[in-house]
Amino acid sequence: MTDLPDDPTLDPERHTRIVSLWSDGSYEDIGALFEPISRELVAELDLAGLRVLDAATGTGNTAIAAASAGATVDACDLAPRLLDVARDRAAAASVDIAFVEADLLALPYEDDSFDAVVSTFGAFTVDDPARCARELVRVCRPDGRVVTTAWGDRGVFATSLEVIARELPEVDDPQGPDPRDWADLDGVRDVVAGLDVEVRVEQRTIWFRFPSLPAAFDLFEVASGPYLRMRAAIEERDPQGWNRVRRDVIAGWEPLARSGVDGGVELPADYGVATIVRTSGT
Ligand SMILES: C[S@@+](CC[C@H](N)C(=O)[O-])C[C@H]1O[C@@H](n2cnc3c(N)ncnc32)[C@H](O)[C@@H]1O
Repeated sequence: MTDLPDDPTLDPERHTRIVSLWSDGSYEDIGALFEPISRELVAELDLAGLRVLDAATGTGNTAIAAASAGATVDACDLAPRLLDVARDRAAAASVDIAFVEADLLALPYEDDSFDAVVSTFGAFTVDDPARCARELVRVCRPDGRVVTTAWGDRGVFATSLEVIARELPEVDDPQGPDPRDWADLDGVRDVVAGLDVEVRVEQRTIWFRFPSLPAAFDLFEVASGPYLRMRAAIEERDPQGWNRVRRDVIAGWEPLARSGVDGGVELPADYGVATIVRTSGT
């Protein structure tokens, strides 16, 4: 762990901002939608008997799937409230996981600690992608796999962010890191530039089921910390702004939606699965 004067991990304002962003609302309700992705990924990665880190575990989706599949699992996240939920879920699933509060920019693990490092929709949210990638690769052994998932530029999240950006242009800050970089090959290559790794990225789509499109919007509006933040910022500028967002997001989702098998609707979200294999000397 570095302790340089400009080390972002030492900035208490940044720490508080990230923790409250992900602790507000009820991420557990959003994470429940993502759980099938963790289960599918873990089954494919064949993690039984391996030492695995779930980096930015949130409510523990990937950690619990990996431990249930027979891996020895460490899991970390910056948000203590989510770690508490993850610990309870792991206990209910009767799996042992070493949960730790930690920053992905300064992981509290020795070099080469893990056979596989997985980060489902975690690393792509981190504010310094290159440093985050360096940390994930550092704690993975040579020839081990770092596997990350990130939402791409089509589907339920991309559409809503496009609408939100009309009211709040800074969500698309060209100076800041673009989380979508983690979802395609060129972007991931940029993120890992300078590291001794090989990269591949696979594009996938998940369909989420909701009772209706307004019900889908209601869920994100109350459960997602980032949506709560964006709503507050928009309403501060214009009290009617969020009503426009609701109307236009739902209208934007309509052409994407399909009927659910037993009623309701399904909405797609494209995501990239990046596999970063550490070669030698990193
Ligand atoms: C979208 S959630 C994904 C959670 C989980 N991996 C899943 O698949 O449901 C993003 C997570 O990243 C965590 N996070 C964001 N920035 C972080 C950082 N710098 N260090 C550690 N965790 C961070 C948040 O607390 C949150 O739990």
